[in-house]
Amino acid sequence: MQKIKLAVLISGSGSNLQAIIDAIEADRLNAEICAVISNRPQAYGLQRAQQHGLRVIALDHTEYESREDFDRQLQQQIDELGVDYIVLAGYMRILSRSLIEHFYPNMLNIHPSLLPRYQGLHTHQRALENGDREHGVSIHIVTPELDAGPVIIQGKFSIQAHDNADSLQQKAHRLEHQMYPLVLQWLSQQRLQITPDEIIFDHQPLSRPLLFNDLKDVA
Ligand code: GAR
Repeated sequence: MQKIKLAVLISGSGSNLQAIIDAIEADRLNAEICAVISNRPQAYGLQRAQQHGLRVIALDHTEYESREDFDRQLQQQIDELGVDYIVLAGYMRILSRSLIEHFYPNMLNIHPSLLPRYQGLHTHQRALENGDREHGVSIHIVTPELDAGPVIIQGKFSIQAHDNADSLQQKAHRLEHQMYPLVLQWLSQQRLQITPDEIIFDHQPLSRPLLFNDLKDVA
């Protein structure tokens, strides 16, 4: 079976990147990371990548005049890699419409909320302030509208009285680290297929997001 080729884009710690690397090294994910790209040269995730012998590309966005200039360079770098999917894993910079349209529908993002709730930043704090009892994470296809593309899968957890933004972030990470490698493995198996018009899972068009918590028995 052919490996899927990935470019992983990060801005920070890269714990999701680490989960993807671990899944590949444990043969749970039939993929190759062609490069890890960061818009922040100091991102810890780049060190993680180097420790595993991966190619890293640091493109410092502060050195570019405009978002469009930066994204043109980013797009060129990704094009040269010839990857199947672009995986946003804590990439915290808004992407320009032209770059997103260029890669659509093959760019995925992981977002720490139950979309469409809490697009943007500070999702855990906002869920707490709203008194939500339930919170979670979503993996979606990237479209030009921020955090608004079709959702493939969500994972949920409950918010307890003692929770704070940090504990919610930990719960979110625990789910994310299982969900992202799993979704990528489904893509490599073609169990999950993404076309410009629809998401197909197990030969059926997806009419609503999959729920990770109901899929505990899925390998
Ligand atoms: C993750 O929780 C991810 O959901 C979030 O950033 C974190 C990155 O953690 N992404 C977003 O908020 C995107 N809007 P990591 O660097 O440890 O993988």
